[in-house]
Amino acid sequence: MPSLKHLLTLLTIVSIAACSAPESSEESAQSSAVFNTTLSVKEVMALVLEPASDTLWDSGGWVLDASGYEELYPTTDEGWAFVRAQAAVIVETGNMLALPGRAVDNDAWMIYSEGLSEAGLNAMAAAASRNKDDFFQAGAKLYSVCTACHQAYNPDINNRFDIEADAESDAD
Ligand code: HEC
Repeated sequence: MPSLKHLLTLLTIVSIAACSAPESSEESAQSSAVFNTTLSVKEVMALVLEPASDTLWDSGGWVLDASGYEELYPTTDEGWAFVRAQAAVIVETGNMLALPGRAVDNDAWMIYSEGLSEAGLNAMAAAASRNKDDFFQAGAKLYSVCTACHQAYNPDINNRFDIEADAESDAD
């Protein structure tokens, strides 16, 4: 565990280096960037992305229960603000997955990661304007990005999704 003192020393060195560095081009700024990618893709999925997505999916559409159709959309300003914040987590998760050290390739992986951010931005906009249809569409788009990437990189995950979905509909 590095002590705070070590950390401060490090910060001093970094800031001295930053001051004395010759005019840095954008390229050198990028190559010196350090990202903490300790969390695996699996952990980002399970701990960051899935909880945020579940909140979105549980907040859009309708469910049929004993008392009839129940609307799932938020009903208060706070409720919409909360789902908008979860959508922001999804936007940024797209970036997290694209980080060097985490991205699996520089090809389809990047397209799916960007798709995640786009779906999240759609959901944020819909939540801000409380547009239920757009919110629902954003949730559907999000789901298609998840399954497309899993299909390409880890098809077993989709089978697990199906099982979970079946279990949920059985429970209803
Ligand atoms: C850019 C590709 C990509 C996207 C987009 C993506 N995933 Fe994943 N996901 C993966 C990969 C790869 C794994 C397998 C990770 C492993 O087991 O090492 C995975 C695994 C998972 C897992 C299993 C985690 C575990 O504990 O085993 C869950 C749950 C999951 N993803 C949820 C989601 C959800 C929900 C979305 C959409 C909102 C999503 N993923 C979008 C690539 C992606």
